[in-house]
Amino acid sequence: MIERVVVLIPTYNERENLPGLIQRVRAATPAVDVLVLDDNSPDGTGKVADELAAADRQLHVMHRERKEGLGAAYIAGFRWALERGYDAMVEMDADGSHRPEHLPALLVAADEADLVIGSRYVRGGSVVNWPADRKAISLLGNLYIKALLGMPVRDATAGYRVYRAETLRTIGLDDVESTGYCFQTDLTRRTVRAGLTVVEVPIAFIEREIGDSKMDGDVVRESMRRITRWGIAHRRDQVLGLLDREPTWHRL
Ligand code: GDD
Ligand code: MN
Repeated sequence: MIERVVVLIPTYNERENLPGLIQRVRAATPAVDVLVLDDNSPDGTGKVADELAAADRQLHVMHRERKEGLGAAYIAGFRWALERGYDAMVEMDADGSHRPEHLPALLVAADEADLVIGSRYVRGGSVVNWPADRKAISLLGNLYIKALLGMPVRDATAGYRVYRAETLRTIGLDDVESTGYCFQTDLTRRTVRAGLTVVEVPIAFIEREIGDSKMDGDVVRESMRRITRWGIAHRRDQVLGLLDREPTWHRL
């Protein structure tokens, strides 16, 4: 049974987005706690979060020293939540792209799944206001992932998710090296490999109105490099399996 839920919200320069988002989380899911993971944002997001937390016992803030990437922030948040006995951890962007109004449906799905992905690419899912180049990166990325890793997941890069605590304990966080956005694909892959169930629930992903995406060349390069490496190892193991030989090495 999922009883205690925490929504993890990583922030880097989201001062103007955060207050409204937290208000919407409160309205949509009054029982959940929230943890803001701020990487010492130059725009003072951390201070805004502290001010909000002073008036809200369900809101917590983790101040991290410097910008270390989305994946690193989430892993710190997962550890914090596991230590405190939460049953489920939600990943949610601070910029409004992940609508808190979808969260009740995601949490219902989490009763029957080890990982719930708020998916743009299943029937009923959509992306609103993305420029053509961003759409292309996302679709090609998911195609590349499908070709190399062959996972039964339509939106493996998605960032709106519910992990059950048990799932994170099973897949383990200690050897996750991905620091950027490719951490999403990494954890999807680990979940599938562990034989756990992934359910995709359709969401409308609404592109932010305020501030800029932190997606950059480093994020894309890290994803390409790691996915290629995982894919080669995975396909090699499959071939060795066909030849009925034990894999001789693992990079995973
Ligand atoms: N603490 C911290 N540190 N937060 C970060 C960092 C970081 O280094 N980088 C980004 N964030 C925060 C942002 O402030 C925002 O709240 C959230 O992470 C998402 O960042 P965006 O820059 O808005 O991401 P996006 O819209 O380009 O990408 C979204 O969609 C991708 C799939 O298409 C995210 O949900 C990605 O996780 C997802 O892979
Ligand atoms: Mn965004």
